[in-house]
Amino acid sequence: MTELTPIIAIDGPAGSGKSSVSKEVARRRGYGFLDTGAGYRALSWHLAQSGVDGTDADAVIHALAAFNLSLGLDPDDRTVTVGGTDVTAVIRTPEVTAGIAAFVQVAEVRAWLNAIYRRLAGESGLGGVVIEGRDITSVVAPDAPVRILMTASPEVRAQRRGIELGADTEEVKQAILARDASDSHVLDLAEADPGVDVVDSTELDFEQTIEAVIAVIDRKLEAHNGR
Ligand code: DC
Repeated sequence: MTELTPIIAIDGPAGSGKSSVSKEVARRRGYGFLDTGAGYRALSWHLAQSGVDGTDADAVIHALAAFNLSLGLDPDDRTVTVGGTDVTAVIRTPEVTAGIAAFVQVAEVRAWLNAIYRRLAGESGLGGVVIEGRDITSVVAPDAPVRILMTASPEVRAQRRGIELGADTEEVKQAILARDASDSHVLDLAEADPGVDVVDSTELDFEQTIEAVIAVIDRKLEAHNGR
């Protein structure tokens, strides 16, 4: 029997660095990289384009039938398309981000996206796939051999994002705390599931964070393969 593609499940809050770290870890290992937030973003864009009210759960579920999402696994090609339209850049705008909260808790939407994510990872044929998001360690891939929660203090996350965006740190911190609150239904920052390794990057730079994540992957895969 062929071994299924090992999944490296990584969760973390806004500004934890999980996206850039996950991507770089995937590159170094030759793994695929799946950014699950992109699916939620693309749906927010699709609903706005189709004139669907995101707070109307029935309408959102109905709109899934025409939501033709395509996501790649190449860490160096993050192209996202919906019905053939390249939405890679537009899904990062504040309008699209703000639209997500209206439908993010609809169970059918989450199940629909999760089925796509599991299929993409399962069919990849790669040595591994890093999947990053909010509910990967708990819902999308609870049986993954490697499950990591990346954290950092809100102050440090705000500082990193502020530098990235060229914005005021205090304002960014408030925005980050608001995102933590709206994500709290999918991500428990205070307590990781048993079996989830926490990588706290508050005191680490980018390279040290990558090394810490790779150390967890090596340790967990070795234990998994030696079962
Ligand atoms: O990681 P991101 O900022 O691109 O995610 C955008 C939003 O999508 C985030 O605020 C919460 C939601 N999301 C989610 O609910 N579950 C995921 N696995 C990934 C993202």
